[in-house]
Amino acid sequence: MMTTMDYSVTIILCFLLCFGKVHCYDGRLEERDVQMAEKSNENHILKTVSQCFHVRGNPFVTLYCGSNHMIKINRAFHGMHHQNISRCNFLPGDCMDGDLSPYYDWSNCLGAEHCVKSVKQSWLRECGNYSKYLQIDYQCVKNEEVFDICEKSNTYVTEGYIKSPNYPSFYPIHRDCECNISVSGKSRMLVSFYDLLLEMNGKKCADWLMIYDDDYKDLNCGEIMTGMKNVSWQGPQIRLHFHTDVNNTRRQSFSYNTQRNLKGFWVYFNAEPKDEVLVKCGPTKPKKLQSYTPNPIPKGGVVIAGTASTLPRGWSFTLLLMMTVLY
Ligand SMILES: *[C@@H]1O[C@H](CO)[C@@H](O)[C@H](O)[C@H]1NC(C)=O
Ligand SMILES: *[C@@H]1O[C@H](CO)[C@@H](O)[C@H](O)[C@H]1NC(C)=O
Ligand SMILES: *[C@@H]1O[C@H](CO)[C@@H](O)[C@H](O)[C@H]1NC(C)=O
Ligand SMILES: *[C@@H]1O[C@H](CO)[C@@H](O)[C@H](O)[C@H]1NC(C)=O
Ligand SMILES: *[C@@H]1O[C@H](CO)[C@@H](O)[C@H](O)[C@H]1NC(C)=O
Repeated sequence: MMTTMDYSVTIILCFLLCFGKVHCYDGRLEERDVQMAEKSNENHILKTVSQCFHVRGNPFVTLYCGSNHMIKINRAFHGMHHQNISRCNFLPGDCMDGDLSPYYDWSNCLGAEHCVKSVKQSWLRECGNYSKYLQIDYQCVKNEEVFDICEKSNTYVTEGYIKSPNYPSFYPIHRDCECNISVSGKSRMLVSFYDLLLEMNGKKCADWLMIYDDDYKDLNCGEIMTGMKNVSWQGPQIRLHFHTDVNNTRRQSFSYNTQRNLKGFWVYFNAEPKDEVLVKCGPTKPKKLQSYTPNPIPKGGVVIAGTASTLPRGWSFTLLLMMTVLY
């Protein structure tokens, strides 16, 4: 855990940087962001779709990755141009808003091969106008890069993904599976939640994903969307345990009163600095928990598991800075 002292130092530093020389996000995006969205490397196919709200008929966008691929949304935002331009995509200098959670439910896109979304319109407070277009930057992740927590594996990777069986469809009931992920060196491990929808019974977890090491236990259930939570682990080994009960509930009501299909989970992991990670997964014995209350998602979404004294500043600092830049 980071101490309060640590937090304040990091936050103050961050503010200093933002109001000082370094460019800070001010409702506009710069050229470099566009280039980032268009950049592609051999592992990840990056794609962009956009559409205006005011077009003839029903405005919509189609996200398409095709068979054996999974959609991961990197960024979705509403925007408007400052001039009267008839383009329906982002241009440098545009005013935009990236918090679209009240307007869209991305659940049927995440992990899917394709999906369609109607374009909505929102009031862009910072721009003093209504949005003109919706743009989504997404990525197609190959199925083969994603470990199924219930399937036996014993593999070295530098980064990877773990999902529940059948994700993005309903997961099997009455199961216990685990993945051990470990590094040999001094690297830390980072786990980013892409998608998680697991059954709750009131405020307690009925089905759950617990990530833990000797010092820290992180229990997850309910709803976690892309970008909402990152956990940084000290290493050298962390374990992920997935448990489902006998209850066959397949849908549940979540935030904004949306009924969502219980899809299971999809997480990303890597080692920082880059290192080989050994991934061992498969079925396991049921695990008894002391408490079934999920760990709350901290404000800002970053959990640092481990002690502050041994934790290099760089990582949490980078995360905080990234958050400030992104939001
Ligand atoms: C914006 O431009 C279009 C033609 O490009 C024009 O029809 C429309 O009236 C213009 N709107 C405003 C508010 O100037
Ligand atoms: C909002 O956008 C419309 C059309 O682009 C423009 O005519 C209007 O002046 C804008 N309103 C404000 C408050 O900027
Ligand atoms: C199954 O889950 C639903 C909703 O959480 C609950 O109302 C019901 O009592 C549960 N049934 C059993 C057998 O646990
Ligand atoms: C994970 O590690 C524990 C001990 O650290 C071991 O008992 C367990 O069998 C391992 N699980 C897998 C799937 O390798
Ligand atoms: C989690 O990390 C990703 C990059 O891996 C970043 O885009 C995202 O904003 C982070 N989320 C939080 C809540 O810090």
